[in-house]
Amino acid sequence: SKSWSVPQLAQARAAGRKLVMLTCYDASFARVLDAAGIDLILIGDSLGMVVQGHESTLPVQVDDIVYHTAAVARAAKHPLKIADFPFGSDGSPAQAFAAAVRFIQAGAAMVKLEGAGHKLGTIRYLVEREIPVCAHLGLTPQSVLTMGGFKVQGREQSAAERLQAEALAVAEAGAALLVLEGVPATLAAQITQASPIPTIGIGAGAGCDGQVLVLHDLLGIDTGHRKPKFVKDFLAEGGSIAGAVHAYAEAVRAGTFPTMEHSYA
Ligand code: KIV
Ligand code: NA
Repeated sequence: SKSWSVPQLAQARAAGRKLVMLTCYDASFARVLDAAGIDLILIGDSLGMVVQGHESTLPVQVDDIVYHTAAVARAAKHPLKIADFPFGSDGSPAQAFAAAVRFIQAGAAMVKLEGAGHKLGTIRYLVEREIPVCAHLGLTPQSVLTMGGFKVQGREQSAAERLQAEALAVAEAGAALLVLEGVPATLAAQITQASPIPTIGIGAGAGCDGQVLVLHDLLGIDTGHRKPKFVKDFLAEGGSIAGAVHAYAEAVRAGTFPTMEHSYA
């Protein structure tokens, strides 16, 4: 099987091929994901909650993402590796660039940041310096303090319109991929249709160009956090860890995950 490159993301979308993404934080699981043909691996700052045991992603450090990205990259050869900027590490373009260079040198091929607004300048700054960027809009977990918890975004008309505008703005700034998290399914589908770049949903319905889940959620591991509606345990039907990852990939490609049972109306 082939190794993924950033330009192939748009090609996959044009070919109507769903993108399959999972989070991963270590070499052993990265080997399993690679063998199962997972397209994209996110070294997410969700590691703060599922690996480090924190209540939110806010305590995660750049060093943590570098460490886990290097571990994943040693084992996963084919998937595109995306490293996640932790809270506070992308506050200015120059600061983000310094962290991004470390992520790339650890083995990432793309970096992900939450939000639009002042982050648009950072996206532009990174892309001008040949660093591919994935944007992340909707329920952005690093906004937990101002959101007052993890809440579905874009339910009111004004919020929906703001989200639609942000989706176009991150693409215009140069992002090559867009994660939509915790967004009503119809809104995410509308955003996807209007988006010049592929979208990846998590709690955003089946109308996105791909899907992502946190690995521990897919394996039904109790991480000690409230389980969101979009989480599905694939271990039961998969029969093994490799089987669960495979079942998830097949379900995303076939369009059978997520159903409305795992989405927000
Ligand atoms: O950190 C993470 O795992 C993420 C995904 C949930 C999109 O940002
Ligand atoms: Na994240």
